[in-house]
Amino acid sequence: MSSSVRKAVIPAAGLGTRFLPATKAVPKEMLPLVDKPSIQYVVEEAVSVGITDILIITGRAKRNVEDHFDRSVELEELLRQGGKEEELNAMRAIAGLARIHFIRQGQPLGLGHAVGMAADHVGDEPFAVLLPDDVCHPSSGILAGMLVAHEQTGSTVLGLKQVDRREVSLYGCVAFEPAGDSLVEVHDLVEKPAPDEAPSDLGVMGRYVLTPAVFAAIAATRPGRGGEIQLTDAIKGLLRQEKVFGYTFRDGRFDVGNKLDFLKATVTFALERDDLGPDFRAFLEQVVGAG
Ligand code: UTP
Repeated sequence: MSSSVRKAVIPAAGLGTRFLPATKAVPKEMLPLVDKPSIQYVVEEAVSVGITDILIITGRAKRNVEDHFDRSVELEELLRQGGKEEELNAMRAIAGLARIHFIRQGQPLGLGHAVGMAADHVGDEPFAVLLPDDVCHPSSGILAGMLVAHEQTGSTVLGLKQVDRREVSLYGCVAFEPAGDSLVEVHDLVEKPAPDEAPSDLGVMGRYVLTPAVFAAIAATRPGRGGEIQLTDAIKGLLRQEKVFGYTFRDGRFDVGNKLDFLKATVTFALERDDLGPDFRAFLEQVVGAG
């Protein structure tokens, strides 16, 4: 099924404190999984489901995110002179992935605030939000499934995953009722609840398909948890006017803002590479076997 969603927003203005000291001077979105910055996987995921226009919300010290998606004429010329056709084509392809725009969030006032900055760019159409901390495996089909759910319901669809009860306080958490295969209807949301106050063990992961009504809901949302304008609170506000659904999935998502998941993603992607996989597997077997 082809989707009507053409635009995506990638909020990347957060400070990345969970990954210090690496993120002191380097944006966490630029940390590579093997040899590709994590944000490039996320842009490629959006492009793979038919998104043609991407707005990246950046902030202080994020200049090299912009540089990464821009043409680099000097580098291209050097590669051309060196006869490195394959690398040259790969560099040109990055800048041609989609129409990529940037806007800066002056202060990190929260994820809701960051998404709200996209209002003029997005206009009156549904759009996807992809958090660059969450890298989805290309075979996971998570965003594609969410877009199908959006076409079926015409509503906002949240990416949801069952999490360990002890970990619900890391996520936005939903109260819901089943609404079909992989689909639930969301009745309430709570941002980072204590385990005994969580309405369920379904957590909101970093993928959203939102209707444009969310912008008015964000504008009406006051600072919440951590003093930040939370997207979860805005979607809770949206529930007063519209239905909200969740698309549930199990596997294929790595939280690369978390060090252990970052390592898991690195190993997974490296093992799948034709050029690295066999040698890397042999190395891992040697290391783990020796342990
Ligand atoms: P996080 O809650 O993970 O915050 O943001 P963070 O600062 O990026 O990372 P840590 O927790 O300190 O390590 C979730 C997503 O929302 C974006 C972040 O860039 C990330 O993609 N965000 C958050 C913004 O764009 N602006 C904000 O004001 C807050």
